[in-house]
Amino acid sequence: MILPIVAYGDPVLKKEAEEIDQNYPDLQKLISDMFETMYHAKGVGLAAPQIGKSIRLFIVDGSPFADEEGDEPDPMAAGIENFKKVFINPIIEEESGAKWAFQEGCLSIPGIRENVQRKEKVLVTYYDENWVFHEESFDGYAARIIQHEYDHIEGVLFTDHLSPLKKKLLLKRLGNITQGAIQVDYKMSFPGAKKPRMI
Ligand code: NI
Repeated sequence: MILPIVAYGDPVLKKEAEEIDQNYPDLQKLISDMFETMYHAKGVGLAAPQIGKSIRLFIVDGSPFADEEGDEPDPMAAGIENFKKVFINPIIEEESGAKWAFQEGCLSIPGIRENVQRKEKVLVTYYDENWVFHEESFDGYAARIIQHEYDHIEGVLFTDHLSPLKKKLLLKRLGNITQGAIQVDYKMSFPGAKKPRMI
């Protein structure tokens, strides 16, 4: 089932999300709905707050990054074709390496992409969809996707990393997203729309 994606301006996106345990109801159904929702919207990551649930869960599938046709292999894309994962109660234990800029976008902020600086490597602990514990390192695009999605469960959006000036320049467009005054080809819910409006 495709779920509506919550738009910028909804308070759920600014909340620090809560851990879950193995008794969380219908978790497998939620995970499969989140994958369906993410693929429909052509995203590479989706965090539970983006579908209105303030819990520490996100999913990723970085394989679209592997499809780009280039003459030379992109070092940042190493291993990305198999980067389909579920992260439950993740903790970024360590970030390391040099900061690099990447144009990030977000399914909750359609149409806006901006450069965000983040470190190149992460060490993460998490549970997968079978409640198996993992400790793993990621770099390149995989690390980038994890950092972006991890921010979501901390109540942080990529726009929060922009300079005050950059953010000021985006204010009107961000306001339009909140109001639902945008064109988007997947289902969203807009906190500022007069009536909840679905597209
Ligand atoms: Ni996002």
